[in-house]
Amino acid sequence: DWTTINFIDSSIEEIKNKVGNNKVILALSGGVDSSVAAVLLHKAVKENLICIHVDHGMMRKNESADIIKMFKDNYDLNVIHIDASELFLSKLKGVIDPEQKRKIIGNTFIEIFENEARKFHDVEYLVQGTLYPDVIESVSVKGKSVTIKTHHNVGGLPEKMNLKLIEPFRELFKDEVRAIGRELGLPEIFIKRHPFPGPGLAVRVLGEITKERLDILRDVDEIFMNELIDKNIYDKIWQAFSVLLPIQTVGVMGDNRTYENVIALRAVTSTDGMTADWFRFDYEFLENVSNKIIRMVRGVNRVVYDISSKPPATIEWE
Ligand code: XMP
Repeated sequence: DWTTINFIDSSIEEIKNKVGNNKVILALSGGVDSSVAAVLLHKAVKENLICIHVDHGMMRKNESADIIKMFKDNYDLNVIHIDASELFLSKLKGVIDPEQKRKIIGNTFIEIFENEARKFHDVEYLVQGTLYPDVIESVSVKGKSVTIKTHHNVGGLPEKMNLKLIEPFRELFKDEVRAIGRELGLPEIFIKRHPFPGPGLAVRVLGEITKERLDILRDVDEIFMNELIDKNIYDKIWQAFSVLLPIQTVGVMGDNRTYENVIALRAVTSTDGMTADWFRFDYEFLENVSNKIIRMVRGVNRVVYDISSKPPATIEWE
């Protein structure tokens, strides 16, 4: 529509004027925001855009490979893929506190990103897909500077590297960014993806993060997502995901007692992530997903469904 096209044209114009012939880097997570930002920036500065995808090992199943493939196949983007999962895992060893996890991931991310970016001289700008809700939620509450959750992976990077920031979506909500992405021709499956937090599965494996626990969660999450897509429910939901709890519970399999992991499923409706309501699945759906997960994923013997709204709960569990 007119406003979307108008926004695209005027930001391309603005970015061109600002950037000139300088180089621009962008951390491409593969989420809607950074993906749309990448395509928009590419239109404005062409080969002067360098995208860096850092795989921190907390991504969902095959996610990094799929993202890279999508951009290589459909766009002429310059994407550098860095697999740093081992490093992130080693730094997170033994860490339980959620904010500590975020801090470690954020700092390690910056370290890697910075190293990579330094290989290019003449980089002047950093692009971030910051949205309006991120700006207000993480900056101030009633005039006091309070961080509810530290949301930004690359916070602090611009100052440290002496880069100037480009945040084309600072005044937009997610739906508006989706509309822009659509207009720019990004595939619908990409546009409609649920938001995924920067620290990824690190804040969904409650307690200590290990490769084994991440793998369990990846298998569970794949089953949940496929069911949502199969049953045509995915698009009705703002965000759906699985959480691996840090406790074991007793179960029974055949003649044996089991003592294994609990999975919590979460699905919420929302318009901006600031408030949210739990999604009313029918019982049959829940029964089916629960059975599938317990039958197919080794190490899980119980599934529960989260019926808390935000507030007072948050969307994520950590
Ligand atoms: P909460 O859990 O605060 O989540 O209700 C609101 C929205 O923010 C996402 N979220 C994050 N995004 N880094 C991110 O990039 C984070 O550390 C983070 N924590 C929460 C969450 O997935 C939801 O969409």
